[in-house]
Amino acid sequence: MKLLIINGPNLNLLGLREPDIYGNRSYESLCAFIGDACKAEGIEYKLFQSNHEGAIVDEIQGAYGVFDGIVINPAAYTHTSVAILDALKAVEIPAAEVHLSDINSREEFRRHSYISLAAKITICGKGFEGYKEAILFLKDYLK
Ligand code: DQA
Repeated sequence: MKLLIINGPNLNLLGLREPDIYGNRSYESLCAFIGDACKAEGIEYKLFQSNHEGAIVDEIQGAYGVFDGIVINPAAYTHTSVAILDALKAVEIPAAEVHLSDINSREEFRRHSYISLAAKITICGKGFEGYKEAILFLKDYLK
């Protein structure tokens, strides 16, 4: 089983970025956390982070026929990107959407997610643990 883990804009600044919301741990430590979770489950994985919408769309398109599932935190593109939604729908790879923070208890504009329209599950407000939950969900969903 192969999972593609996608993180969107500004998640590379974890640790520095709004620590009261996103915590003190860095993007590198998130990558290590995800790697440990995948290895513990015997799952092959690739990590991808980009600040660019088109690069994320390209990565999703390239996943067709290569990856069995996608874990995606689209970050701000969650609330704006029909292009990422359409890419997920096009490849029909089961996707789990993750947000570190609880997008439903923040500003009004964060409550709407285009990505939820394609995702099999949306996990938010659980920090790094949310990624592990998404990985375990996909492992179970894909068996
Ligand atoms: C986020 C929530 C988004 O609203 C925000 O734009 C992000 C991160 C999260 O992980 O909580 O960049 O996806």
